[in-house]
Amino acid sequence: MTDAIDLRSDTVTRPTAGMREAMFKAPVGDDVFGEDPSVNALQDMAADILGREAALFVPSGTMANQIAIKVQTRPGDEVIVEAHAHPFNSESGAGAVISGVQFQTIPGRRGLLDPDRIRPALRPDDPHFPPSRLVCIENTHNRGGGSVYPLDCVASIRDVCQTAGLALHMDGARLFNACEASGVEPRRYAELCDTVSFCLSKGLGAPVGSLLVGDRDLIHEARRWRKLLGGGMRQAGILAAAGLYALEHHVERLAEDHRNAKTLATGLASLEGLAIDLNEVETNIVIFQVVRPDMDAYSLFERLWREGVLVLPFGPDRVRAVTHLDVSPADIEQALAVFARVLGE
Ligand SMILES: Cc1ncc(COP(=O)(O)O)c(C=O)c1O
Repeated sequence: MTDAIDLRSDTVTRPTAGMREAMFKAPVGDDVFGEDPSVNALQDMAADILGREAALFVPSGTMANQIAIKVQTRPGDEVIVEAHAHPFNSESGAGAVISGVQFQTIPGRRGLLDPDRIRPALRPDDPHFPPSRLVCIENTHNRGGGSVYPLDCVASIRDVCQTAGLALHMDGARLFNACEASGVEPRRYAELCDTVSFCLSKGLGAPVGSLLVGDRDLIHEARRWRKLLGGGMRQAGILAAAGLYALEHHVERLAEDHRNAKTLATGLASLEGLAIDLNEVETNIVIFQVVRPDMDAYSLFERLWREGVLVLPFGPDRVRAVTHLDVSPADIEQALAVFARVLGE
């Protein structure tokens, strides 16, 4: 469906002409030897933006999260995450396979962990229990509807971790959306965490790639695990160039995606049969409920699909729509007209 208005995810964006041009012209070398100038420039830029010593370019957000877990745990450790966190729910059980860790999940409000609920979840030093070693938080939270961590909440989580000797990883797949919405500089979040990952291939519009950022020693170790996992790429500068372009050209425009999400949500709220709390639309993710006896998320999805509007069912009565680089204000108006028609049938 090439002409569809694709609101399933911000991962569906295609590289712009400017980005393709940058990829075409990218100077390259062998990145496994550390000799790709474009990869090195991207890693330096990521470390600089986040105010940390070093960064590692990896193929995906999943690999960034899993390497972060690997380098900060030992087999048998416990990792504390919110119940709907990506590494627990959507990474094929990799934490168990790669790191031999178990997860303890804590329900959060819209995916955000409450520091007061982490404290009682920490394991006492007792041979019966797995050692609590790492907390992972997700900013923005995908299944939480693009919710943003307030900086003081991350600071409180950091305090809990520090007191108990745990590390803190932020899965910032959509970190720049969080920063745009909150006005918090990326480095302010990053200085509170041991590691932060962010994705280039979501709202930032690059075709591939994520960065893992942290202290030099940890990133050095991460590089070894990237190789072990098959993520050592050679002339990866072609991909890194897209990332550099994205960081230079596609960060500020995230505000546009957030405006489009608000317009979409406001339009959806006015339609009979859908329920949505407009206060919960903070970034580019809109999650709404289907509240009609004759329709559920799957049948709505199918009807919209036939009309060229793509969304993602998120359970029997929940649907997710995501705005991004390839969705214009006119597309939002058109999508709303299709919703109105489909719901009026
Ligand atoms: C919050 C979050 N973390 C990690 C990932 C994994 O990214 P990737 O698809 O690049 O592996 C995603 C993907 O949607 C995500 O939403």
